[in-house]
Amino acid sequence: MTKLLTFLGLESSCDDTAAAVVRADGTVLASIVAGQTALHAPFGGVVPEIAARAHAEKLDRCVEEALAEAGLRLSDLDGIAVTSGPGLIGGVMSGVMCARGLAAGTGLPLVGVNHLAGHALTPRLTDGLAFPYLMLLVSGGHCQFLLVRGPDSFSRLGGTIDDAPGEAFDKAAKLLGLPQPGGPAVEAEAAKGNPKAFRFPRPLLDRPGCDLSFSGLKTALLRARDTEIAAHGGLYRQTRADLCAGFQQAIADVLAEKTRRALAVYLETAPAEPALAVAGGVAANKAIRAALEQLCAGQGVRFTAPPLRLCTDNAAMIAWAGIERFRLGLASPADLIARPRWPLDAAAPAMLGSGKKGAKA
Ligand code: KG4
Ligand code: ZN
Repeated sequence: MTKLLTFLGLESSCDDTAAAVVRADGTVLASIVAGQTALHAPFGGVVPEIAARAHAEKLDRCVEEALAEAGLRLSDLDGIAVTSGPGLIGGVMSGVMCARGLAAGTGLPLVGVNHLAGHALTPRLTDGLAFPYLMLLVSGGHCQFLLVRGPDSFSRLGGTIDDAPGEAFDKAAKLLGLPQPGGPAVEAEAAKGNPKAFRFPRPLLDRPGCDLSFSGLKTALLRARDTEIAAHGGLYRQTRADLCAGFQQAIADVLAEKTRRALAVYLETAPAEPALAVAGGVAANKAIRAALEQLCAGQGVRFTAPPLRLCTDNAAMIAWAGIERFRLGLASPADLIARPRWPLDAAAPAMLGSGKKGAKA
């Protein structure tokens, strides 16, 4: 029997330092994620220099912990995968230099992985999805539709032209005096509110295609909040809940309609086992999830969402993507470099899309 490949994965492109050990049969032997939320909290956003320093300090320990949890030594591995872009360059460099050192010291193959490919290939690790499938990535830093044809073959069907939806939830929470991360806080408030009490715009629905926009929604929320404060001298609890419900409904409606359009493009390829996978922190939102599930059910498309710990930033997805690339013969040179920008689909027009990690695709 041939031995199953076992890879170590490293992730450090934003504010999570992560190391994981994954086997080619889809077993996650260990997945360690050390977040940096507390370090950045006083600054109201991720500070790149602080992130890079923290990654450099924590990576070794995360690797040790992951190997210990997996019960393996470096010599038991078959390769080292690392996020080599896109992301905050200092953090990506910390990971790449750590992986290069490990590869040089052990003689193991090194595989540079695109962070977005890591997210996009996760449904194969968790649900064994067959190519091609449609992926909707929705988090604080990402928002795009990807037609995933193979481990190194992606078409971007559309994406945000400004904020990512998680970023919009986070900004909405800030505007309404709710805690961060904003998504869960806005969702909890929304459960107590009436989504029809305020009417929010549905940006870009009047235009063809699958691109999205969320920054106007945030401005609409700001205006609605200020109108209420001017009229009543403050925000009633119920008004805040209604604002959250209307805001969340607008995001869910826009995502559902744009997903409907992306599905139409995807289904033209006549996939044998049509599937939509959603990933990223925003996929945890029940209203959004329900809207997407309903849409898929109506079209005979399988709906999957990896468990949240593998949906948000982690290194298991990087190890897995490394295995998929390695099997295609796509190992990297020993002098692998970090890339701040790295569009998955080089043929797609460049996007201004921002998010926590800045413009990147
Ligand atoms: O994927 P993730 O952990 O990190 C990156 O953005 O890289 O996603 C975090 C984002 C945050 O913006 C957070 O507010 C949002 O996902 N989020 C949610 C929910 N849970 C997390 N947004 C809406 N509803 C939720 N329940
Ligand atoms: Zn990510």
